[in-house]
Amino acid sequence: MSILAFTCLGSICLLYLLSFVSMVMSQTFPYSHCPCGSNNTASTKFRDNLNNLFNGKLYDERGNSLSYNTTDGEIPDRVYSNYICRFDFSPETCRNCVNKAIKNIVEQCNGTQEAVLWRPTCMVRYSYRNFFSTLELVPIKYAWTAGNITRPAQFAMILNQTFNDLIERAPLNPSKYAIHESNISDFERLYSLAQCTEDLSTEDCSACLKAAFEKVTADSVQGMQGGRVLIPSCFVRYELFRFYEVPNVVGSPGPIFQPDGEFIKFSLSKYLDK
Ligand SMILES: *[C@@H]1O[C@H](CO)[C@@H](O)[C@H](O)[C@H]1NC(C)=O
Ligand SMILES: *[C@@H]1O[C@H](CO)[C@@H](O)[C@H](O)[C@H]1NC(C)=O
Ligand SMILES: *[C@@H]1O[C@H](CO)[C@@H](O)[C@H](O)[C@H]1NC(C)=O
Ligand SMILES: *[C@@H]1O[C@H](CO)[C@@H](O)[C@H](O)[C@H]1NC(C)=O
Ligand SMILES: *[C@@H]1O[C@H](CO)[C@@H](O)[C@H](O)[C@H]1NC(C)=O
Ligand SMILES: *[C@@H]1O[C@H](CO)[C@@H](O)[C@H](O)[C@H]1NC(C)=O
Repeated sequence: MSILAFTCLGSICLLYLLSFVSMVMSQTFPYSHCPCGSNNTASTKFRDNLNNLFNGKLYDERGNSLSYNTTDGEIPDRVYSNYICRFDFSPETCRNCVNKAIKNIVEQCNGTQEAVLWRPTCMVRYSYRNFFSTLELVPIKYAWTAGNITRPAQFAMILNQTFNDLIERAPLNPSKYAIHESNISDFERLYSLAQCTEDLSTEDCSACLKAAFEKVTADSVQGMQGGRVLIPSCFVRYELFRFYEVPNVVGSPGPIFQPDGEFIKFSLSKYLDK
């Protein structure tokens, strides 16, 4: 079931693969990807540049932005880096998530010249190559929310309509995200979100979201009532509960934030329309 290609050797690779399977089951973040082959070793100068980015520059250069990309150093040791938070985050929550992701990526990918790491609601990435404005579809990571779907065929159709809409609208939004809500029964509502990195073109954002939807419709996913697909250029999520904040919804109870910015699952009844 793994779609990840690890270049690690021997027992290290096996360990990684096993833990990946359990991560998917338990939805434990962070997910990181930093192949540990010998050609992914960073120079000392590269590490210094990366430290500059991670010790403030990456988040602070623009300041209070929900996504940003910047570089440090000169070729051949220049580091290209970006981060992205979910569209509905406050700057404080975003910064918190980015700081944790930086800590995680330094722990898990120390010394590599290319890596990407996802926490539940933000992503941090760096590389020796210029990936800005470039569609990047590898790796694809995912986590499903297990649960029985009463009418799987109808659910698949609604997912299809949902993603057709998201794939159409998110790329055209200057902030490159869209949400979609549909009734799937008198009692259940499907909440969905798609977001690309802002530097992508309309076409590339659309291509990334299509790749994400292909993962959603893969055979292994049938019967899952929610899920996330994480790709360096975009991410999607859909659930039977509202996991994002919708601005200006009068009377909405609003989801609670955990310290990390991940939402606590409310009981569904809280979200039934009055
Ligand atoms: C490492 O080598 C592989 C195979 O030759 C190549 O595809 C990859 O881009 C290289 N990675 C780096 C970080 O140079
Ligand atoms: C961020 O990416 C955009 C799009 O490729 C690029 O034009 C811009 O120069 C980058 N920003 C920085 C600070 O490097
Ligand atoms: C990263 O590696 C360097 C050099 O091997 C080491 O000094 C440093 O403590 C490591 N950092 C972390 C967070 O593991
Ligand atoms: C899903 O359906 C199976 C078989 O009908 C049942 O055993 C299981 O308890 C159900 N799980 C949930 C979460 O409703
Ligand atoms: C999903 O939507 C696409 C585009 O509208 C359509 O071509 C396709 O047949 C649909 N797939 C399913 C399984 O309904
Ligand atoms: C969705 O369901 C709610 C509650 O049953 C209802 O008020 C609302 O009109 C429905 N929306 C659509 C688009 O059918």
